[in-house]
Amino acid sequence: MKKDLLSLLDLEKTDFEDLFDRALQLKKRYAQGIHDRVLTGKSLGLIFDKKSTRTRIAFETAMIQLGGHPIYMSTQDTQISRNEPAEDTARVLSRYIDCLAMRTFDHALVETFAAASSIPVINALTDWFHPCQILSDIMTIIEHKGGYQNVKIAWVGDGNNVANSWVNAASVLGLNLMVACPENHMVTQQIINASGADAMDHIRFTTDPKEAVKHADVVYTDVWASMGEEDELENRLAAFDGFQVNKDLLTRAAPDVLVMHCLPAHRGEEISEQVLEAP
Ligand code: NVA
Repeated sequence: MKKDLLSLLDLEKTDFEDLFDRALQLKKRYAQGIHDRVLTGKSLGLIFDKKSTRTRIAFETAMIQLGGHPIYMSTQDTQISRNEPAEDTARVLSRYIDCLAMRTFDHALVETFAAASSIPVINALTDWFHPCQILSDIMTIIEHKGGYQNVKIAWVGDGNNVANSWVNAASVLGLNLMVACPENHMVTQQIINASGADAMDHIRFTTDPKEAVKHADVVYTDVWASMGEEDELENRLAAFDGFQVNKDLLTRAAPDVLVMHCLPAHRGEEISEQVLEAP
């Protein structure tokens, strides 16, 4: 049966571990000049309805390095922009390509594509989730900290798609995660409930960024207005006062704290220039 990746709750802990092991192995071998063409003859479609730099290039180069072929489609260039039903597009693409990665606004659209496709569908970001981002972030944490157990992770900022995927990952992997958001921009109760009551001993929520970063090994932030919310930025600047990841806030974190940001960053808003450019 095909398997989709729409949110990190689609994965079991063993799936995460298999992905990390495989990715670390492939990365190491690639660095040694061993090119594993395990996707020879396979094609990945990319339907992108929002801007992308890193995610698109990551998918495209991964396909090329593994011997496969990416096919990028801006929604504007497809019949989706002329209101072709998602189900029809999904069915016909399933007959040509082997896998589909999709970036769009409404999470329900990737669910519709997944339900109508006979090929796996990967969420490359929706308004709700950004699962691939967090998979690669945890791999980065493994590379720098030797693992993810006993690593205290603090989210500081908006309760957005990236934050939601962190909460999902924390519930499956048992991560020690503390999420700090302004009251009106907190991760929604629906996302919190999906983690299950048992997860609440290792996932905590606060409106105080100083509390969240206390002794944190990793401090993570993201923009205060995500794609599609740009008009709200002015109001949000006031709401997020005190949530900037800067040198002062980080004095409370572990001395060897790693600062992470999914990028693109807005220097002087969610993160100071000094912290973003620091080692
Ligand atoms: N929260 C951001 C992530 C960008 C990679 C956005 O959705 O715009």
